[in-house]
Amino acid sequence: MSESHPKVYESTDVTVTFDAHRCMHSGECVRGLPKVFDTSRKPWVDPQGATPEEIAEVISRCPSGALHYTLTGGPPEDPTHPTTVTAVPGGPFVVRGHLVLRTPDGKHKHEIRAALCRCGRSGNQPYCDGSNDCLLEDKDWK
Ligand code: FES
Repeated sequence: MSESHPKVYESTDVTVTFDAHRCMHSGECVRGLPKVFDTSRKPWVDPQGATPEEIAEVISRCPSGALHYTLTGGPPEDPTHPTTVTAVPGGPFVVRGHLVLRTPDGKHKHEIRAALCRCGRSGNQPYCDGSNDCLLEDKDWK
């Protein structure tokens, strides 16, 4: 299993984290706020490119949970109520809500968004890593 080490991008008002091992390339971020999320730039995330609220709204659309945010002094991201599970044809389960995932090493991880492997081939269980040519398009989870 590959170990995830999310990258951190900070401004005074918001902290953005990105776990590349979980990204499903849905494009919600780059389409939603191209001034903040630009893969042609290094670093590709500029947390000063929009208001913290705009960044939070776009990150909350990320179906894989690769992107997360923390507003400085603000409330944590709310999980979706009720919890939803969407089976993507030929791909993962896209899950949103108050989640407690058991990892292969027996630990429990709290999540609010995740794309969970259902083919058994992911090297980053329980998350989908695209090993089954899994891609997420808008129609898959909306
Ligand atoms: S469902 Fe995507 S790697 Fe298993």
